[in-house]
Amino acid sequence: MTETPFPTSFLWGSATAAFQIEGAHDQDGRTPSIWDTFARVPGAVLDGDTGDVACDHYHRVEEDVDLMASLNLDAYRFSTSWARVRPDGGEPNQRGVDFYARLVDTLLDRGITPWVTLYHWDLPQVLEDAGGWTNRDTAHRFADYALTLHDALGDRVPYWTTLNEPWCSAFLGYTGGQHAPGRQEGVAGLVAAHHLMLGHGLVVDELRRRGVDGREGGQVGITLNLTVPEPFDPTEPADVSASHRVEHLFNRVFLDPILRGSYAEEIHELTEGLCWRGHPWQSAIRDGDLALIGAPIDVLGVNYYHGDAASGRPHRDADLLGSRIRHPSRETTSPYPGGEAITFPRRGLPVTGLDWEVQPEGLTDLLVALNDDYDLPAVYVTENGAAYPDVVADDGTVDDPERLAFVAGHLRAVHAAIEKGVDVRGYFVWSLLDNFEWAYGYDQRFGIVHVDYETQQRTPKSSALWYSRVAAEGIL
Ligand code: FCB
Repeated sequence: MTETPFPTSFLWGSATAAFQIEGAHDQDGRTPSIWDTFARVPGAVLDGDTGDVACDHYHRVEEDVDLMASLNLDAYRFSTSWARVRPDGGEPNQRGVDFYARLVDTLLDRGITPWVTLYHWDLPQVLEDAGGWTNRDTAHRFADYALTLHDALGDRVPYWTTLNEPWCSAFLGYTGGQHAPGRQEGVAGLVAAHHLMLGHGLVVDELRRRGVDGREGGQVGITLNLTVPEPFDPTEPADVSASHRVEHLFNRVFLDPILRGSYAEEIHELTEGLCWRGHPWQSAIRDGDLALIGAPIDVLGVNYYHGDAASGRPHRDADLLGSRIRHPSRETTSPYPGGEAITFPRRGLPVTGLDWEVQPEGLTDLLVALNDDYDLPAVYVTENGAAYPDVVADDGTVDDPERLAFVAGHLRAVHAAIEKGVDVRGYFVWSLLDNFEWAYGYDQRFGIVHVDYETQQRTPKSSALWYSRVAAEGIL
């Protein structure tokens, strides 16, 4: 294969999230988040796994940052725990803030750029008890929390991501029930999505006031999980319409408000007549919201794992739930509000451990289409990676050729997009460590570093050793 050089300034990183790695669930003032609660609902998480200990990263910051340095990583994307920084959504907790200050300082000391994500799904439970993201006030509480962290770390953290994958928070959390808080309330997902975006807009506005201007003073943006939908059978009207619904209720429901300051007309058509607590869901949209939500951002983070062939018909091999996003052990509903259930039949492509199709060229298509359709800020692939059932060999090594091939294929796809003119400035492999994979608990391993959950021993897999070489040389 020919060598593929990336731009010299390209940022090579890895990503994690607080709830998935930290553990220390009740230490130093942290209070429960919705994922602590949800994990205790019977059947919500495979094998009854919880995040109580996870990778015990809370007590292993030095070791884990040393590991990143040994892997030549330029940047580390991590999330902060709201329930640590402002327990119960209330007053700031200095011990929680100090933990992240220590992490940031350790990263900087080892020459690794810290990239903060403020919300990776772990809402304080007390705020959920008050309505969660269906309550507009949560957006304001989110801004308070963001400012507490910015007060402490704004002088040292150059990249600020407001939300990670709000589609999951909103639609898996409030419509389908696959994720915490596990509510299955149809159109509530749209209301939650709007309030999440309002929270994003409020934080962008506040950070701009503080001089986060996209240059030396820091950059602010959002990370969306995006897909490349296509009709399973383009000659079947039901499949064409299912694909259209995915395009709008997965991608554009966020892309348009954030990058254009408006909801597409199609969103209103697709959700016509859907009421939340007796009123059309759009009554959640107040004057001025879309101006805040659509204010310019510096960075768009794109998380890409697979494309989707959508169908409006039942299929023998499609997920019974009518959704790729299924739940391993719990009754849930389709995360797409309104309309017929959508099915995602397999196309015969290779699949990963989670049964997600491997479609690297979809990432090129996605990035090019985004660039054609929107006036984009700088783009970073903030997550991409794969779960495979890894085996630890007798000599303690972990050889994971499938994950290595997955990451290499997607990096080639990113490179192709750059060649086609998309301003992609970095790539973060998901994930640094094997960790708590939400409803799948510890059953699915996404790490480039293996974690033995009994001993907490970390072992770089062969994909990590390969990635560290790529990160050092900037050449695939
Ligand atoms: C993404 C999440 C991340 C991880 C990967 C596999 O949707 O952002 O936390 O679970 O999927």
